[in-house]
Amino acid sequence: MNPVPIKDVLNKLTIEDLDLRGKRVFIRVDFNVPLDEHLNITDDRRVRAALPTINYAIDEGAMVILASHLGRPKGKPDPRYSLEPVARRLRRLLNKDVIFVPDCIGPQVKNVVEKMKPGDVVLLENLRFHPGETENDENFSRQLASLADYYVNDAFGTAHRAHASIVGVPKFLPAAAGFLLKKEIEYLKGVVNNPVRPFVAILGGAKVSGKIGVLENLESKVDKVLIGGGMAFTFIKSMGYEVGKSLVELEMLDTARRIMDKLKEQGVRFYLPVDCVIAQSLEPGAVVKIVPTQEIPPGWQAVDIGPATVKLFSEALQDAKTILWNGPMGIFEIDAFSRGTFAIARAVADAYALTIVGGGDTDLAVHRAGVSDSISFISTGGGATLQLLEGKELPGIAVLTDKKTE
Ligand code: 3PG
Repeated sequence: MNPVPIKDVLNKLTIEDLDLRGKRVFIRVDFNVPLDEHLNITDDRRVRAALPTINYAIDEGAMVILASHLGRPKGKPDPRYSLEPVARRLRRLLNKDVIFVPDCIGPQVKNVVEKMKPGDVVLLENLRFHPGETENDENFSRQLASLADYYVNDAFGTAHRAHASIVGVPKFLPAAAGFLLKKEIEYLKGVVNNPVRPFVAILGGAKVSGKIGVLENLESKVDKVLIGGGMAFTFIKSMGYEVGKSLVELEMLDTARRIMDKLKEQGVRFYLPVDCVIAQSLEPGAVVKIVPTQEIPPGWQAVDIGPATVKLFSEALQDAKTILWNGPMGIFEIDAFSRGTFAIARAVADAYALTIVGGGDTDLAVHRAGVSDSISFISTGGGATLQLLEGKELPGIAVLTDKKTE
């Protein structure tokens, strides 16, 4: 459910502000999808997430030129990172032809683009097959920009990269946000900066160092912080407990203590796991035990939160009106260590609150727990989501054309 009015915090042109009829629109999408060894797409959620923008442009009678990166091919063509499998998937999802061009600049591309008719969709080959993309080369940007009348960014997952197709091309064209980009900003910035309270943040994942910026940005905004995953054990160790072979960032012990003190000072309730699942190895079939977090024996490693922590965290979520979850509670990729993460996914999904999930593998955890449909918003970003939650400006958003205020 959505008890929070979502504010327009973007203040940039959006695709709806453009007069697209009969115009060529260059839409930067993030089709960086996982592929298996046979180059089959194993998760097409990022492609699906761009469909509202693509369909809108088609319906408005635009000629739609889609561009994306896939993987990190190092500035030269590499068939393992071709976007051709994405073109096939997109044809199915749009139920119409998608013309795939095996390059993103050059005479062949020009030729195809010139022949486009309103409603046509072209997908260009991987932008990162040219070094100019990651180097933000001006000439490369100009060549991409010369293909279109308008630029639209719907690649939220890449908005933190100062690459040519993200910050270069929009300098040469009227530049607007797509629907996905707008929605990501509204939730990750709008709701997080102006939450209906109580606002609870659940943070997990392996390392405290990766979440410091998020914790510092949230400390003045949240009412409760629940910490799980490997990072919890740096906090627990900083309180003087032995944690066996559990993941600890020794150089972060002081920081962990400082954060806990600061949160306490601000009146934020801070929860750490009270019990955990431990194992001696991560091999399938390894013996596991559940122990209080103060009693992890030498040689054992915490791999998941335990049932008492699931209960504690679930109760702490009871009165929440806004929940932000970033980072799994354990090594959920291994079945035996996935219960805690999945239980928290269910607790978040069942909460009578606006729920935002994103960053790292949390979206995957929610998907595997089968509760994606009950979450208010699942971010498509990894690094971009984190940067936004750290309160930083994303270069791909800053560069879009400002909305005129009357
Ligand atoms: C992502 O998967 O986070 C984005 O597509 C960005 O990819 P990158 O980290 O290779 O720039």
